[in-house]
Amino acid sequence: MPKLTILKYPDPRLHKIARPVENVNDSVRQLIDDMAETMYAAPGIGLAASQVDQHLEIIVLDVSEERDNLRVLINPRITKAEGKAKREEGCLSVPGIYDEIERAECITVDALDRNGKPFTLQADGLLAVCIQHEMDHLKGKVFVEYLSSMKQNRIRTKLKKQARQAA
Ligand code: NI
Repeated sequence: MPKLTILKYPDPRLHKIARPVENVNDSVRQLIDDMAETMYAAPGIGLAASQVDQHLEIIVLDVSEERDNLRVLINPRITKAEGKAKREEGCLSVPGIYDEIERAECITVDALDRNGKPFTLQADGLLAVCIQHEMDHLKGKVFVEYLSSMKQNRIRTKLKKQARQAA
């Protein structure tokens, strides 16, 4: 069983703004471990702390085929963004919904690792998409909010119905 419960859109808690981690301590590392376990169990390729109702700037990702390349980004900041690329996205908070979103093609990100050590990451392709998607969660934004309001209404109705049926 996954350790943490993933909030489902349109839960208003998904719109809270995360705050930076001030001190990368053992409780932050415990949260990271729980988030990674929850992401792998889902299964998903990325999870932001916002999605498990912890409003700190922490994301975990693994876009590898083998599921053995966990990346942890604390307090991520995009310092450079180039190009545009459109790719189909999904989200563990919006189950069963996939749509094309346009984002920067290549990004450079500064962040802290699980030991609080700063690092810089250059990303393109799926990794770049995933980082931008998860960073949006930290700002309280879910990917479906890039879609037309008609589509968003349809998605909200569908997910509310799913939640009722699951209850
Ligand atoms: Ni997501």
